[in-house]
Amino acid sequence: MPISSLPQISEWTPRSWRGREALQQPDYPDQASVERVLEELRLLPPLVTSWEILLLREELAEASRGERFILHGGDCAERFADCQSPRIANLLKVLLQMSLVLVVGAKRPVTRIGRFAGQYAKPRSSNLETREGVTLPAYRGDLINRSEFTAEGRTPDPQFLLRGYERSALTLNFIRALIKGGFADLHHPEYFDLDWAAHSPLAAEYHRTVETIGESLRFMEHVLGVRAGETDRINFFTSHEALHLAYEEAQTRQVPRRDGWFNLGTHFPWVGLRTNRPAGAHIEYLRGISNPIGIKVGAATTREQVVRWFEALDPERTPGRLALIHRFGAKKIADGLPGLIEAARAEGGRAAWICDAVHGNTETTASGLKTRRFEDIYREVEQAFEIHRAFGQQLGGVHIELTGENVTECIGGASVPTESHLARAYETEVDPRLNYEQSLELAFLIARKMKNEADR
Ligand code: PEP
Ligand code: CO
Repeated sequence: MPISSLPQISEWTPRSWRGREALQQPDYPDQASVERVLEELRLLPPLVTSWEILLLREELAEASRGERFILHGGDCAERFADCQSPRIANLLKVLLQMSLVLVVGAKRPVTRIGRFAGQYAKPRSSNLETREGVTLPAYRGDLINRSEFTAEGRTPDPQFLLRGYERSALTLNFIRALIKGGFADLHHPEYFDLDWAAHSPLAAEYHRTVETIGESLRFMEHVLGVRAGETDRINFFTSHEALHLAYEEAQTRQVPRRDGWFNLGTHFPWVGLRTNRPAGAHIEYLRGISNPIGIKVGAATTREQVVRWFEALDPERTPGRLALIHRFGAKKIADGLPGLIEAARAEGGRAAWICDAVHGNTETTASGLKTRRFEDIYREVEQAFEIHRAFGQQLGGVHIELTGENVTECIGGASVPTESHLARAYETEVDPRLNYEQSLELAFLIARKMKNEADR
């Protein structure tokens, strides 16, 4: 559709999305109690600040120019029960270690963005789930209902919005304290658990990379007279899928001495594949906030949609405003990505391109477990680097579902070599995640690829 025939953009307010069709919203039995909860949420202090959000926008702008690399990762769905110190610390540890490995390969700064402190709402392909003849509402994430397959468990409860907000605050509070308290001590190579690497033909190279990290950090500390990580600047950002629009609306605020509206519930909200329609309520909500916005794109995404997202969300084509997070799958990326890059460039769009290398690579085993193959994940990232390079631009980052725990949900890499190992520690309620070892191994492979790309 030519731009001139696009619908006129009307005035935006934090609630203007209510005039559009909102997909994937829960069906609460009692709307009045939802409104009471939202009123309470609106009064609670925010989770993040506008200056952190603007800093992330700058860093995404750098990523869009190939000057920075984004590592965006975490659980598919956070669970209230997992809001525990070791789990949070382990996730932080794996993201931090991966980012240090990437710095060595990328030779540019790396920004860490967690899928945490609010990743509690999930889109589902069906509203209902049937088990042994019983049909109940689908589980939509802990922000909405419980996974337990009972009528009570599956009924959406607005109190969970408050519980989710509080847990997001607890998570973030702990993360900020860990960072401030020198958690970044992890730059010592002895904190990297590399036992698994012994099985890899690349073991020697991995150990060398870790040595290099240690040496570079020691050198920096010596020259600057500070310990790495001892800085007040936040170096983890948070993100979640902005799915539950009334919840997001309640976090949408104005701040003193700055124009515009901010979603102060997260630094980086993204819109998922199922709710990204340009005419839908989610895009209407996102267009009015000043946060950087991620849009998931995939095989069904059209060039026309790309045009309309730029018009609605980034009319001034500001670098750092939009991140296009592509998730095609290793088999489809070569066919699907070039057209979207062409469409964005024809629009003068300067998005950061981030490769979600997991969501297009999900499969179900004969025994009914959802899994992903490590090799497919890496193959998708590898192709992403090459396709962007062919267009004279650079892949700006990767988006991965992972955990710091020793789960067995994805196949491959050194730790879960075959399908038969999956049953050992399969935990996820939603999508399968890379475990600590697989995540670190992936980071080493990506670092290696980036180094090769730079040496070309
Ligand atoms: C997700 O990121 O967990 C997700 C549901 O992704 P997508 O919208 O790309 O399917
Ligand atoms: Co997922």
